[in-house]
Amino acid sequence: MKTVISEKFKTLFGGEGQFYASAGRINLIGEHTDYNGGYVFPGAIDKGILAELALNGSDKVCVFSIDIDEYVEFGLNEENAPSQSWARYIFGVCRETIKRGGKVAGFNAVFAGDVPLGAGLSSSAALESTFAFAINDLNGNGIDRFELAKIGQATEHNYCGVKCGIMDQFASCFGKKGSLIRLNCKTLEYKYFPFNPEGYRLVLVDSCVKHELASSAYNKRRQSCENAAAAIRKNHPDVEFLSDAKRLWLEEVRSEIPQEDFLRAEYVIGEVQRVLDVCDALERGDYETVGELMYQTHFGLSRLYEVSCEELDFLNRLARKMDVTGSRVMGGGFGGCTINLVKDELYQPFVDAAVSQFTEKFGHAPKIYDVVISDGARKLQ
Ligand code: GLA
Repeated sequence: MKTVISEKFKTLFGGEGQFYASAGRINLIGEHTDYNGGYVFPGAIDKGILAELALNGSDKVCVFSIDIDEYVEFGLNEENAPSQSWARYIFGVCRETIKRGGKVAGFNAVFAGDVPLGAGLSSSAALESTFAFAINDLNGNGIDRFELAKIGQATEHNYCGVKCGIMDQFASCFGKKGSLIRLNCKTLEYKYFPFNPEGYRLVLVDSCVKHELASSAYNKRRQSCENAAAAIRKNHPDVEFLSDAKRLWLEEVRSEIPQEDFLRAEYVIGEVQRVLDVCDALERGDYETVGELMYQTHFGLSRLYEVSCEELDFLNRLARKMDVTGSRVMGGGFGGCTINLVKDELYQPFVDAAVSQFTEKFGHAPKIYDVVISDGARKLQ
């Protein structure tokens, strides 16, 4: 990938730039909890974005995407974002950096990536974090990693129409090889947990389906949670986020809120606790409990939060049937992957069965990705 990028860079702009990279992410547990002020438990992966950048002495950004095979140019003083969706991310990162008082000088860039698109592995966060990190470094802005993650998140909110939480950008900015990170999304306290489950493997099964309108459905879930939190807050003024609420407090407002909002909130309150339970179980080396909690999350995401789909439910049931330790839909949902915690000896039979049975049922093969937990945003030497 590096050679292809540097050859293109030389041809387009001449000379050499500096290389930067960032990563997509997995999340062991803690889904749709981030924008509710709860816990998440992600890690960066060995699939990401690699970019070469150099300042160009102008007020223009000139970028080429190898994967899309497209060149885009925009001025740093322009108000309107480019129409190409991939370029909007870079535009957004520039604008959000400037908004925070950072300097952004014009630059040339070429980039490529290997995060599968639409698989729920946060290819967009990888792109945002790579550019946020690179622009910060090239301009000597000294913005810290949390703020870089927030630049990526604000880009999604203000330029891409997704009211996402902080998890994806956090994971790609803070990712560390071999470790998952538990983040409290309310206080932003975080802790690294070395993750090396002896005798088990983490494997993703990508359904290769991505449902339309995923971002509006996502924003709607967020709205339901905010409605539920607002109703609870009337009785319990200290409830800032839904994650601050107890199950009993939700029960108190059951008749005041739509059934749909109630179910969404019920899932979130349970999920916040499951993250803590998974961390405890991991510290004891109790992977069976970790796996059981993953199945509980899948049930909640499918029945209460309603962000699963037929293909993902099928993969989850298959995992259960084959005695896979843990399995659940991962990321925002509405398609994408299941994440599976599988005993070494079951790995091959499970993968084989998932591929053959899924293909038979849905007419296309799923993709299998082995998870390697890796470093997040960085400058390459
Ligand atoms: C998407 C969002 C994240 C998070 C997950 C669900 O990946 O970008 O902020 O809400 O969905 O856990």
